[in-house]
Amino acid sequence: MTVSAGAPGKIILFGEHAVVYGRPAIAVPVTQVRATVVIQDRPAGLSIHAADLNRRYQYSDLDSSHPLAAIIRLSLSALGAAATPDASLTITSSIPPASGLGSGAAVSTAIVRALAKYYQRDLPAQTVSDLVFEVEKIHHGTPSGIDNTVIAFGQPVFFVRGQTLQTFEVPVAFRIVIADTGIASPTKVAVGDVRKGWEADPARYDALFDRCGEIAATARALIETGQPHALGRLMIENQAVLRHMGVSCDELDRLVQAAVNAGALGAKLSGGGRGGNMIALVTDETRAGVEQALLNAGAKRVFSTIVGGQLLANG
Ligand code: PMV
Repeated sequence: MTVSAGAPGKIILFGEHAVVYGRPAIAVPVTQVRATVVIQDRPAGLSIHAADLNRRYQYSDLDSSHPLAAIIRLSLSALGAAATPDASLTITSSIPPASGLGSGAAVSTAIVRALAKYYQRDLPAQTVSDLVFEVEKIHHGTPSGIDNTVIAFGQPVFFVRGQTLQTFEVPVAFRIVIADTGIASPTKVAVGDVRKGWEADPARYDALFDRCGEIAATARALIETGQPHALGRLMIENQAVLRHMGVSCDELDRLVQAAVNAGALGAKLSGGGRGGNMIALVTDETRAGVEQALLNAGAKRVFSTIVGGQLLANG
C-alpha cells in the first residue's frame, strides 16, 4: 500500500508574538508551498526519509523527544495502532525551515494525515491541530498554537490562544508578496527574547501587545469589508510595534522599506522575525515592481499568494 498526504505553509498577517500573550492574531494558509509525506509498506520496522535533508532514520532509534518521533508516536496512539507499522515514511517540503512559513507544523500535519490515511481513518482538523501542537512545544518552547491551527484547518483564522477557533470570510481577495531574507531564525530564540523583555518591563511590553491585538481586530474588520488601503497602513503600524518589541532586524527593515517605496500598500515581518520572511500587500499593478524592488534590496526568494477565494481545507 502507498498513501500520501500534504499540508500548506502559512503566514501570519497580524499579531505575531502578542498572540503568545493572549492577544488575537490573523494567519492564512499559503498553498504555494507545501510539505508532503508518502508512506509505503516495507518490511523491517518504520524508516523515515527526510528527503530534502538527505537524512534517514529508523523510528526505533530516535529519541522520544525528537519532533519526528514525537508526532509519529502521538499519531499512532490517536489512531489506536496496536504496533508500529512496517513502512517507509518519506518527507519532502518546499517550505523553507525557520523562516516563519510554518515548516515544522506543516511537516507534522502531513505526517498525521498520511498516517491517518494509512490506517484508513479520518481525523477531525481539531484533533490534527491538537497533535501537532504537542510537537510545536518541542520546536518553539511556548507556542501560541496559531501555526498548527491555521495549517490543520487550512483556512484564514482569527486566533486567540485558548479560545474556540474563529474563521472569517474574505469577500474581496487580496495579494500578498512573500520575500525571504535568507536568514534562518528559530522562532524559539525570538520568542524567548520577547519573554525576557516582558519580564524586565511588563508595562511597556503589555502596551505593545495590546496595540498588536487592537491592530489584529481592526484588520479583521477591514478584511471582512474589503479595504486594502487601510489594511496596508495597519501592516506598517504593526511592523513599527514589532520593531519596538525588538524582533525586526536590518534586513527585514530594508525589505519592508523597499516594498513600501515600490508602491506596496503595506509591509511587515511575518512570524518570529529577526530574519525569515516579510510580507507586502500589493495590487495587480504594483506586484511586479514590488517583487523586483525586494530582489534588488537583497531578498533571496520572492513569491506571492492570494488570500480569499477558494482555499483548500484538507490534504
Ligand atoms: O513559526 P513562526 O516563525 O511563524 O512564529 C510563530 C509566531 C509567534 O507568535 C512568534 C510564536 C507563536 O507561537 O505564536
